[in-house]
Amino acid sequence: MKYKGIIFDLDGVICSTDEYHYLAWQALASRLDIPFDRERNNLLRGVSRMESLEIILEKAERAYTQDEKLAFAQEKNERYRELLKQMSEKDLTDEVRNTLHALKAKGLQLAIGSSSKNTPFILERIGLDKFFMGVSDGNCITHSKPHPEVFLKAADMLKLKPEECLVVEDAHAGVEAAAAGGFDCAAMGDARDDQRAQWHLKRFSDLLGII
Ligand code: BG6
Ligand code: MG
Repeated sequence: MKYKGIIFDLDGVICSTDEYHYLAWQALASRLDIPFDRERNNLLRGVSRMESLEIILEKAERAYTQDEKLAFAQEKNERYRELLKQMSEKDLTDEVRNTLHALKAKGLQLAIGSSSKNTPFILERIGLDKFFMGVSDGNCITHSKPHPEVFLKAADMLKLKPEECLVVEDAHAGVEAAAAGGFDCAAMGDARDDQRAQWHLKRFSDLLGII
């Protein structure tokens, strides 16, 4: 088997929390009268909260102070967490659950590599808080994707080299991060056709055909 470990992005790969990010940013942008739509939202995939805010504010008609920006990021995160609180194990699809268990049964080491500081909360909501051997997330990195740090830390947690791991991503920034770190990547969702990825997944369960 080529890979010994798999590092999964969280939002938009394991669960559909990418939609909640969109809704929470949309509410903020609308309150501030800043144009924002799903296409612009795709630019936020994989990048940190503050960097996402900066991308949204590029379309603003006025400049904001650092204090205002911090308050906006907090406002977005509070709205986002209200949506996360409504999540339960039912928000993990059977397809994702069954695929994860099948990969583990094949002996693969599984980790999370996400830019989100809400990762532990989300994993708890969907019942996966004890499932992964390593959780590398927004709380333990200084550079967000497309920097490879989050994946390099995840590989370290699994005690594997980058070339022994496959990264699964839905963000172009994440595919770029995987390449920069020396990882193969399976791209899905918004990033599915990214030519820097070695694999292009129509569905999450297609992973079973690679491994
Ligand atoms: C990534 C998302 O997983 O986490 C980004 O794709 C998000 O859209 C980033 O900005 C940071 O998330 P959080 O939960 O720390 O605001
Ligand atoms: Mg994602």
